[in-house]
Amino acid sequence: MKAPTHRVFSGVQPTGNLHLGNYLGAITRFVTLQDEFECIYCVVDLHAVTVWQDPADLARTTREVTAAFIACGIDPKKHIVFNQSQVVQHAELAWLFNCIARMGWLNRMTQFKEKAGKHKENASVGLFAYPNLMAADILAYRATHVPVGEDQKQHLELTRDIAQKFNIDYAKSIDSHGFGETYFPLPEPLIQGPATRVMSLRDGTKKMSKSDPSDYSRINLTDDADAVALKVRKAKTDPEPLPSEAEGLAKRPEAENLVGIYAALADTTKEEILRQFGGGQFSAFKQALADLAVERLGPIGAEMNRLVKDPAYIDQVLHDGAEKARLIAGPVLHDVKTIMGFVQPRLLK
Ligand code: TYM
Repeated sequence: MKAPTHRVFSGVQPTGNLHLGNYLGAITRFVTLQDEFECIYCVVDLHAVTVWQDPADLARTTREVTAAFIACGIDPKKHIVFNQSQVVQHAELAWLFNCIARMGWLNRMTQFKEKAGKHKENASVGLFAYPNLMAADILAYRATHVPVGEDQKQHLELTRDIAQKFNIDYAKSIDSHGFGETYFPLPEPLIQGPATRVMSLRDGTKKMSKSDPSDYSRINLTDDADAVALKVRKAKTDPEPLPSEAEGLAKRPEAENLVGIYAALADTTKEEILRQFGGGQFSAFKQALADLAVERLGPIGAEMNRLVKDPAYIDQVLHDGAEKARLIAGPVLHDVKTIMGFVQPRLLK
């Protein structure tokens, strides 16, 4: 199959509330990339079960993320939106990548260390092999660009390492089957903008995350206007006025975080926000930030709530998306298995 020159892939786990970090770090980028590129956006339910998920919740959270994609402006008719478990090629390619990736590479993954914590022996094998499945997600489509938040950078580097090792290990076979000099692209992470790492509203040194026990640490996409305003008002700050230049944000993690959030919501830069608010107190800035957040997130939350009431529509989107996804991932898997030397009866005359 011919390699695409530009193809975007990214994924989001259906594990609880989507928050401002997911939105600013990833989903807003998903939306803008649609105008220029062919995009594939996946609800990664196989990744979610690397830690136990209540079966009663998994379908609901999968539909919720799908609803968020659509409510944020992703067009499932023009692009591909689906859930990972419907396309078997992800799991199959992940197995092949389990045999390509090295233990040493995975041992270096900081996210595994964070998630497994002190009880590494009790973590699932899936949690350890998680980045291999992520590489499979991306490379099953030979995707070239991957919009993500900064926390995924190391996983993207691993994806590139896997792609490169495959290309080298099977170079002769790739060439002899007429696939060119290399088979997989080395996908580029797209980590850009003023909010690639949105921090907790309670502690500017910790990432905003679904798993933080305090709901005041994050703004959820489904929070109503009162909740958003309250959380912004309660957000931790320091006693100094806002600086007039970005350098003045150094060592002021809470201030830097709120300015980054403002800049991202306003589609501008931190410098521009500081030109506007520098020298002022946090109270006026926070009021303006709350208003802006409500203005941007309010319609998204409302649309998500409307969409989740129509599960049949969401399921149809996921079904249609999976069909389109299989049309790409199927032939890629076929190529990969040919390259690796598996017997494939479909090819026998
Ligand atoms: P997940 O579900 O944790 O997060 C989804 C996206 O949101 C970004 N993100 C953030 N960005 C800025 N600030 C934050 N506080 C913040 N929290 C989350 C993440 O970087 C991500 O882009 N492993 C991935 C899902 C995945 C994937 C893939 C991504 C599976 N396969 C293939 C890209 C390509 C994850 O757990 O994202």
